[in-house]
Amino acid sequence: MKKAEGLLRGIENSEDAAVYRLTDELAIVQTVDFFTPIVNDPCLFGQVAAANSLSDIYAMGADPLTAMNLVMFNPEIGLDVLQEIILGGRDKVEESGAVVVGGHTVEDKEPKYGLSVTGVVHPDKFITNSNAKIGDKLVLTKPIGMGVLATALKGELVEEKDIMGAIDSIRTLNKNASLAMRKVGVNACTDITGFGLLGHLMEMLIGSGVSAVIQSEVIPVFDRVFEFAETGLVPGGAFSNRKYVGNQVKFGQGVNDITQDILFDPQTSGGLLISVSKERCDDLVKELEKENVLIRAVIGQVLEGGAGTIKVI
Ligand code: CO
Ligand code: CO
Repeated sequence: MKKAEGLLRGIENSEDAAVYRLTDELAIVQTVDFFTPIVNDPCLFGQVAAANSLSDIYAMGADPLTAMNLVMFNPEIGLDVLQEIILGGRDKVEESGAVVVGGHTVEDKEPKYGLSVTGVVHPDKFITNSNAKIGDKLVLTKPIGMGVLATALKGELVEEKDIMGAIDSIRTLNKNASLAMRKVGVNACTDITGFGLLGHLMEMLIGSGVSAVIQSEVIPVFDRVFEFAETGLVPGGAFSNRKYVGNQVKFGQGVNDITQDILFDPQTSGGLLISVSKERCDDLVKELEKENVLIRAVIGQVLEGGAGTIKVI
């Protein structure tokens, strides 16, 4: 067999992870992610980074199997801190049912942490980000606005204990949301990370050759995000995302600048964005509830034409 023949999903459509068929029954799913601390507590940082790294596996409807630590660490910070980051990460890997099987550490002035994760899925059953269908409902499983909160945290305008609701959300695995969508059967899925809600939605729509309308009022946003965004605490990434999406997005008159910034806000370990048929949408919401997924917001609908265009009302 030619090596390339096994590759079911590569880098062609900004897919969340690569899928490679080993046998008719089994494919492996591979992804890697790491970043600089967005919270101060090392254990929380480890948990968030690991949940984020595992997320692309869950977005594809796969199960994580093994994980390897990627650590960039400044020894001046102290080995006990490094230990806590890695233990935090291991917590989440264990919760996912996968195992940590090694890793690699290099010295770097600015610390970074994440995982390379390998998962498994049936080669006919993985969920891509490019199969949204006209008429589908769009369901989001976590609030947005973490980029704004992280900026406030960096600027020491808020402490971790004041935004624990948001931190709890981003350290929550997308595992249960993934199990729920697999049970129901959905058309497409991606997870919301660096490109923000609109950036990741656009990629899904381009890949699927469709457009969408979303309702800004029903999009869940973390507490205090509007307050900070109004004072100008919007991360640079939100502006790059606005540029990236460009004129693919049209805002209705009622959608003010602050709301727009939040829709472009880059997320860390954000929720799943699921495209599900109208008929199965209620079942998905019920199944998410059964799986204790706190947020299950139906934020919009997939429409015909204008591949990749988004109307925000
Ligand atoms: Co992703
Ligand atoms: Co990723």
